[in-house]
Amino acid sequence: MRTIEWTAPPDSPTAIEAGELHLWRFSLEASAAEHDALEALLSSRERERAAGIRIEAHRRRYEVGHGRLRRVLGRYLGIAPEAIEFGRHSRGKPFITAVQNPGGVQHNFSHTGDVAIVGVALGRPLGVDVEAHRSDVDMELIARRQFAQGEQSRLMSLTPAERVAAFYRCWTRKEAYLKALGEGIAGGLQGFEVSFLAGEPPAILRAKGGPEECRRWNVIAIDAGPELSAACVVEGAVSRVAGWELL
Ligand SMILES: CC(C)(COP(=O)(O)OP(=O)(O)OC[C@H]1O[C@@H](n2cnc3c(N)ncnc32)[C@H](O)[C@@H]1OP(=O)(O)O)[C@@H](O)C(=O)NCCC(=O)NCCS
Repeated sequence: MRTIEWTAPPDSPTAIEAGELHLWRFSLEASAAEHDALEALLSSRERERAAGIRIEAHRRRYEVGHGRLRRVLGRYLGIAPEAIEFGRHSRGKPFITAVQNPGGVQHNFSHTGDVAIVGVALGRPLGVDVEAHRSDVDMELIARRQFAQGEQSRLMSLTPAERVAAFYRCWTRKEAYLKALGEGIAGGLQGFEVSFLAGEPPAILRAKGGPEECRRWNVIAIDAGPELSAACVVEGAVSRVAGWELL
């Protein structure tokens, strides 16, 4: 795993170079005053979406997450966070509208519990996934239903103690790949394979487009914190990964 040193971010604005991957980690908790300030940044669509979330704690996390996501992206675009306009690809992947984004900043967002991670790259697609380890998940059942045959056998060859971390490494890499493609879960998790054994370099091992498709993507294992697994899949080579914690 590439160790990510999570440090305080540089002063705004933030510049990104072609080979770089920027990862932002932040909490979805906020004081009442901070929550209100973040909520004020949301678009009418985001407000509508928030209004549909019945559990208050989840609604607040949504508002804080999307407010902070806007603040992160505003740094790169040089525009006010509340002015950012998002479009969506056919399966829901958000992007910043071209007119606001002449530099081609691309991003992807993922959250679990009270943690969120945003990946940012320039001119190339990426996908991010973070998952909290849960004790109520039937890993064998999910692996049988969602993982490729080769992944299932490799997972089941591990001891039960090794299996939890391996399961989440596999899951987050698979989901990050589908998010990079913009397909989401509907893209089908069984049609490709990722590496996930301890010590194996993170990679797409088999995919529909053959070896060339596998080489096209770079898989970054992210150390997101205790009881968490996270990965980012980005097109092309990565010369530098920066990890910034938004406090
Ligand atoms: C995207 C998806 C994989 C998210 O998985 P998850 O683990 O529940 O959630 P995460 O926190 O990792 O990611 C959610 C974020 O990913 C982004 N996202 C949404 N759809 C996406 C897609 N197709 N590809 C990449 N990113 C996507 C959004 O920023 C979303 O945040 P928001 O819902 O708060 O706006 C899952 O919801 C999915 O498969 N969606 C697509 C559904 C679909 O195929 N619909 C077809 C309709 S035509």
